[in-house]
Amino acid sequence: MTNPLTKADIVARYLPTTLSHATSATAFAPSNIALCKYWGKRDAELNLPINASLSISLGNLGTSTTLSSAENGIDSLSLNGKKLSKDNPFYQKVFAFIDLFRRKQHLPICIATTNTIPTAAGLASSASGFAALTLAIDKFFNLNLPLSTLSAFARMGSGSASRSLYTGFVEWHKGTQDDGMDSYAEAIDSTWQDFRIGIVQVSSEEKKINSRQGMNRTVNTSMLYSQWQRQAEHDLEAIRNAIIHKDFTRLGETAEHNALSMHATMISAFPPVLYWQPESVAVMHKVWQLRDNGTPAYLTMDAGPNVKLLFLQQNTAAITKNFTPLKIIAPFANAK
Ligand code: PMV
Repeated sequence: MTNPLTKADIVARYLPTTLSHATSATAFAPSNIALCKYWGKRDAELNLPINASLSISLGNLGTSTTLSSAENGIDSLSLNGKKLSKDNPFYQKVFAFIDLFRRKQHLPICIATTNTIPTAAGLASSASGFAALTLAIDKFFNLNLPLSTLSAFARMGSGSASRSLYTGFVEWHKGTQDDGMDSYAEAIDSTWQDFRIGIVQVSSEEKKINSRQGMNRTVNTSMLYSQWQRQAEHDLEAIRNAIIHKDFTRLGETAEHNALSMHATMISAFPPVLYWQPESVAVMHKVWQLRDNGTPAYLTMDAGPNVKLLFLQQNTAAITKNFTPLKIIAPFANAK
């Protein structure tokens, strides 16, 4: 059954009758990598997840977005300094999101968005993109809404964007309400200075099956899907506890198991959803070999062929020796 509630109906409840706006507003949001993954929607319109998830934000790697009122009266959008045309799918997605707030009012807007994620890193920018856009909208239209509400709005743009409003470790509650307003993310109050993420880039090619299609197919055809839901629930609890007790082994083992179980579920869909390339598998074996030789390193993977490593600062030398080039992220570098 489709949800009779639309995004527009839900957002409208939080808006004043007449919108005021600033001349311009800028916001930054970090990209994030899930340690306990989100895979499967219970509502496709609102991007409501079947399971809760938990991520780590990537410090200053993310998206910065500025909204300003368009002097010439025409909407425009630039991405990394390049102007996009009106028929570009990204342009359409962004302005459909803006229209949830601006509604029928004549408020031409100029949007400039820049990714600080190197394109070569093969990291998704939709999470940080929709999170930065939502934060900039809140400032531009003087909404002053709580972060939990903004997180639920960002989720309507891209599910994992709900987690990109915060730094550090973040948990996205799945929620149970039909309007999804209890499906938002919150920061976990815990820093881990030594925690490191390494990105092993296998390919920068565009994926053939996007996450929306991949999730749909998995939910509809994989016999393993019900098992995935149970495991995700269990893993989230274990990872949250590992963060609180700074138990790296438990965190790494659970995150790796979670990612590989998600991929096993995808592979068991039909037609199969397989994001791995032969090089991805080679990297996995290298991680396991390193671990057998005494270096605690774990891996996680998303809807693409690149492998993300989880390790602690003291093992940086051993890791970089084995994986080059490696983009290393210290997610708590700016935390007190
Ligand atoms: O938010 P989406 O539609 O890009 O989906 C994200 C899916 C994964 O990256 C595989 C998992 C996650 O929780 O980020």
